[in-house]
Amino acid sequence: MGNFDKIVNLCKNRGIIFPGSDIYDGLANTWDYGPIGVELKNNIKRAWWREFVQLSPNSYGIDADIFMNSRVWDASGHTASFSDPKMDCKSCKTRQRADNLIDAHSKGKVNPDIMSNEEMESYIAEHKVACPVCGKCDWTNIRNFNLMFSTSRGVTDEKQNLIYLRPETAQGEFVNFLNVQRSMRAKVPFGIAQIGKAFRNEVTPGNFTFRTIEFEQMEHQWFCHPDSSLEYYKEYKTRAMDFLLKIGFNREHLRYHDHDKLAHYAKAACDIQYLYPIGWEELNGIHHRGDWDLSRHQEFSGKSMMYTDPFTNEKYIPNVVEYSIGADRLTLAVLCEAYDEEKLENGETRVVMHFHPALAPYKLAILPLQKNLSEKAQEVYRKLAEHFMVDYDEAGSIGKRYRRQDEIGTPMCVTIDFDSLEDNTVTVRDRDTMQQIRISVDQLINYVQEKIVF
Ligand code: GAP
Repeated sequence: MGNFDKIVNLCKNRGIIFPGSDIYDGLANTWDYGPIGVELKNNIKRAWWREFVQLSPNSYGIDADIFMNSRVWDASGHTASFSDPKMDCKSCKTRQRADNLIDAHSKGKVNPDIMSNEEMESYIAEHKVACPVCGKCDWTNIRNFNLMFSTSRGVTDEKQNLIYLRPETAQGEFVNFLNVQRSMRAKVPFGIAQIGKAFRNEVTPGNFTFRTIEFEQMEHQWFCHPDSSLEYYKEYKTRAMDFLLKIGFNREHLRYHDHDKLAHYAKAACDIQYLYPIGWEELNGIHHRGDWDLSRHQEFSGKSMMYTDPFTNEKYIPNVVEYSIGADRLTLAVLCEAYDEEKLENGETRVVMHFHPALAPYKLAILPLQKNLSEKAQEVYRKLAEHFMVDYDEAGSIGKRYRRQDEIGTPMCVTIDFDSLEDNTVTVRDRDTMQQIRISVDQLINYVQEKIVF
């Protein structure tokens, strides 16, 4: 946890992530991305979109509305069964998830996913599992609480209708299956992807942005023939892992975790877990959803989801392989993976974020060695800012300015000195090696461009 607390502090002090509604003492489990954090998260989302839409044959992006007809959630099963098993502590009145209590108590050795509510209650009673807040063991029975946030629409009270904030983006892709297939003349197999907000009324143990009530998902649904669906499921497990390696994760910090207990829609499911400072936790999911989604929407909407193969004339409802990853949870993993404390030769310690250069919030920082070099430095800054996110800093010693850039993971620092006025060259210092090279300002754009590709 040591590093986790340091990362949370760094995020607040360096403009990466702030507590939500901070000046009003916050609102539990809400977080705001600051100027550095929003660049990082946008770069992560761009990298995902590039991989799963731009470079993914037969894949189409959409951006569906957060609000959907309530019948969507009846069809998807969320109204009936999207719930967590929760117990109230009779002593301190806090609400806890029974499965989390068992997981923490058994240190991951007992799997609550395969237990009924009665079995979980027995385990908690037998092992006298205590409330993590007050330490007492005095629980109510388990009750299932639906995780969807509801609100209402309509101009007058009488006309109000119950609607939900979507708990996943996936349904936007399913209800647009016919629209995308017809408008894009798509042939199965094809994919629909989107990035968007989702909302869940989670009872959360905190852990920063790991589990929040509002978060962004990046989801890709692959519609395919039932006979090839298992092969695609395996392929997506590999593609999901490859993406994480490509953006800079160490393979030893990632592992597959196949599910024993499956969600109501799934035929097979697997997570990729990341070794967060809080332990191994789910980073993303890959789910074989069979024809559950399209069949249910066919049943509830009355619209046929049958696909006719243009070559064989075979009619069938496509199966779905889903790949789903939280943009915030991935951003948190990227922060944890990048965080490093290095002992320097002079005995000092530097904190450095080793982001992949393509993900780094600023690609470079322009640092004039003295204030009277700022005119030249501003000229270089304006030239580069046409192409990249660039920081400009002339306050404090050069050493302090390097440290500030290391802490937000800027891969290159460009210093402007008196020679720059004479020969239009600058010094570029590499964040990771701290090596410096001298190059001409005219070469800078190409130099940076080559460094920031995956
Ligand atoms: N459409 C399938 C689906 O939503 P999920 O396993 O519930 O599946 C997928 O969620 C991913 O969304 C998770 O692996 C995680 O990255 C992210 N996620 C889910 N709940 C979250 C929460 N409360 N806070 C942050 N991220 C969350």
